Amino acid sequence: MARLKVGVLVSGRGSNLQALLDAASDPGYPAEIALVLSNVPGVQALERAARAGVATAVIDHKAFDGRGPFEDAVHAVLVEHGVEFVCLAGFMRILTDGFVSRWFDRLINIHPSLLPAFRGAHAHRDALAAGVRVSGCTVHFVRPAMDDGPIVVQAAVPVLPGDAEADLAARVLEQEHRAYPLALRLIAEGRARVAGDRVEIDAPDAAGALINPRD
Ligand code: GAR
Repeated sequence: MARLKVGVLVSGRGSNLQALLDAASDPGYPAEIALVLSNVPGVQALERAARAGVATAVIDHKAFDGRGPFEDAVHAVLVEHGVEFVCLAGFMRILTDGFVSRWFDRLINIHPSLLPAFRGAHAHRDALAAGVRVSGCTVHFVRPAMDDGPIVVQAAVPVLPGDAEADLAARVLEQEHRAYPLALRLIAEGRARVAGDRVEIDAPDAAGALINPRD
């Protein structure tokens, strides 16, 4: 079966990109990474892509007059590389409705909280401030509102007494690296489908779409 051709949009470290590259290095994985595109030059994610022999592109948003023209350029490069599906992996630009509609139901994101709790750029800080006992990460289809959209996979972790932001971030990140490849696999195999505001999962095996704290 043909593998789904995926473009990954990044802005920085790229550890989630690495998890996707590692998964896709297995020929049995149902998706291949066709392009890694960064809006920031020189970031570690680009080095990771190059090391994996994957095509890279840099489209610096600062070189454009507004979001529209920047997104047009991003779209053109994705299409040029035959990309069929887009993963945001630490991509730190808000996307307009225009871009989201062009990739509707073909665009997913990972966020470091159990959505719909703690949207935004300070998920761990906000989770600690709220005193929650469990946090985690969410892979979801992208909708125009920030950190909103049908949920594909979630992974939970405990919040432990004395946790600093960095402790919680590290614990969640480890689960992000499991959740993102799982979500992309379920979608690429046609086992995760958008149905209204939710995602229906056809996963008879134990993995399902939830990763538990003590797994
Ligand atoms: C990840 O923790 C990801 O969930 C988060 O940025 C980090 C990127 O790390 N994304 C967001 O906060 C988006 N709202 P990475 O570059 O090592 O994958």
